[in-house]
Order: sequence, then structure tokens, then C-alpha cells
Amino acid sequence: MTWLRNGWYAAMWSQDLRPGTPTPRTLLGEDMVLIRAPDGSVSALQDRCPHRFAPLHLGSVCGDGRLLRCNYHGLEFDMQGRCVRNPHGDGRRPAGLQVRRYAAVEKHTVIWVWPGEQEPDLSAIPDYSLLDRADPGVTSMRDHLEMNVDYRLVVDNLLDLSHVSFLHDGILGNAQTVDAQIDLQEAGQSLTVSRYMPDVPPPGLFDMLFRRDGEPVDLWASMRWTAPCNLLNDAGVKAVGDAREQGTGIYGIHLLTPQTERSTLYHFVAIRQNPLPFPEAEKEAIGRKLGELRRYAFAEQDEPMIRGQQRAIDRASAPLSPTLLSIDAGPVRYRRILDRLIAQEGPPPAPG
Ligand code: FES
Ligand SMILES: [Fe+2]
Repeated sequence: MTWLRNGWYAAMWSQDLRPGTPTPRTLLGEDMVLIRAPDGSVSALQDRCPHRFAPLHLGSVCGDGRLLRCNYHGLEFDMQGRCVRNPHGDGRRPAGLQVRRYAAVEKHTVIWVWPGEQEPDLSAIPDYSLLDRADPGVTSMRDHLEMNVDYRLVVDNLLDLSHVSFLHDGILGNAQTVDAQIDLQEAGQSLTVSRYMPDVPPPGLFDMLFRRDGEPVDLWASMRWTAPCNLLNDAGVKAVGDAREQGTGIYGIHLLTPQTERSTLYHFVAIRQNPLPFPEAEKEAIGRKLGELRRYAFAEQDEPMIRGQQRAIDRASAPLSPTLLSIDAGPVRYRRILDRLIAQEGPPPAPG
């Protein structure tokens, strides 16, 4: 099994779920429909009507926003998934008219879903409180894209940022950032992989945020992974020899939604940290450029490479094992933690 069932997954950005619009999502191969009630609360139900299996996201919100009506034959369900109205015959509701409900919580401007059968652990939602505090003036667009790959290849990518020197040359890294000091810190269900690259030419995105003179900088990137696939990158630049507090950079948030074995939604946003006081007019341009550069890097550079990697893996006549290098320490370590957690929760229940 490649998935941890009992864990919190980012289903979508809060901003993307509007009251009155049942919105489909697929998570760990299960089709769900997410609904926002008029009071703002969020529910996640299986996206399958128990009558004849029509998708409920094609239904309508009714009952003052508290009910979901299947638009095939009109059964109505509450947010617990109970059928509360059968418009046919004598109106009886057989016991089988129950839709599975998933635990769903809105926190840190993200809608989190717990697909497993165990009691959801609210304290296990990763800390992204910096999203709550984020000044919109220094925050890029909350964005997402779809990658038709195993989500673990995306985590591998994010926990081995040596690739920025090659794949994102000029934007996020360059030839001089290859030689990094790497440090790993494991804590519970988290792993932080830090890279420190002293006295290097500034990659384009960081030069834009800092002095804009191309002069050497110290560059850092600390990527925290929290099971199952929620990541936070603390990355920045400073003058050579200075303290980090005197530098500037970004917090890059990367939240992965495994939809199927070969498809992943990749949610991302960046918040500038310790932003330098550029003129107001420039602030907006920086925010826009930051979002555009990152989208370009992920969609036009990472995505084709990881998709190609997935294809090569899938076409091999026998299972492949990578030939490991020093840069693989992070990916190897997190997979060990994830595999242990998956083994601990046992086999998944029979499909329902
Ligand atoms: S399939 Fe939903 S009411 Fe018939
Ligand atoms: Fe990348």
C-alpha cells in the first residue's frame, strides 16, 4: 500500500469551496464531495448516491443550505450523510440510504480531510499558522496544479532540492548551489532536510527579493515534511557572513493531495519572510512575479521531469530500485517513516 489512510490531507484551499457549490475531490482513490454550509462549516461525503450511485456533486444544495439533494431521483441527505427525504411512494427511507461521511476540518486556510477509519486526531493537523497571519501584500496566489504521478515522487523531489541547480537553473538555483551542506532532523512524524549554500551567486528569484545586484549571498533552504505529504520550505538569502535575520526569503508551502496511484494535486503558495521595504507599486509586482516564477518552475520544469520519471518506472519490466547518492538521504529517511506508519495502521478495509 502506498497510502497512509489515517492522516490529514489537504483537499483544497478554503477559498475554492463556495457555499452552495458541491465540489468533487478524489482522495486515495475515493471520490468525495465537499460542501460548505451557510454557517461556513465544511462537510465531506462520499460522492456516490446509495440509491443508484449517481455522483452527488451533480446534486444541489437545498434545505437552506443544510441538505444535499441527489439530482437523479431527488433523495435528500444531511451533512452526516443520512437520507432525510425520499420524495417517492410512501417516503420510507430504507436503512441502506446512508452516505459515508469523512472527517473534514478547515484550518490555516486549507480544507483537511481524514480518509481513514480511525478516530481523527485534530492535534495532528500540521502547523501552517503562518498562513493565518500572512499579509496578502507579501503572499503569492494560492495555486494548484495536477501531476499524473505517484505523490511520493513529488515528495522525493521536494526533499532533495539538489535538483534546483539543474532543473531550475537561474530561477531557484545555479551551478554554484550544488555544493550544499545537508542536515536532517527527524521529530515524530516530521523530517526537516536543510541545505546551506554559503557564498554563491543569487538565483534569480532570490536576487529579485534581495539586493538585485547579482553579488554573492549565503543561501538556505529547510524543507519540513510532515506525514503523509505536507511540506513547508523556509528558504532565503543573506549577505555573506550575516545572520539570517538580516536576510530575506520565502516560506514555500507545498501540500499534496494523492488522488489515485498515478495522480496528485499539488497545492502551493509562498509567503515572503522578512520582506525588504520595496516601494508599494513594486510590492504587487513582486508578489505576482513570485507566484508566476514558482508556477513556471513546478508546472513547466518539475512536472515534465517527474512525469517522465514515472513513465520510465512504469515501463520497466521489473521493479526498480534507485542507485542512491548522498543527496538521497532525505527521501530515503522520510520513506522509512512513511512506510512504518503505513505498516502500523494495517491493511485497508474491504472496498465499500
Ligand atoms: S441515484 Fe440518487 S436518487 Fe437515485
Ligand atoms: Fe523543483
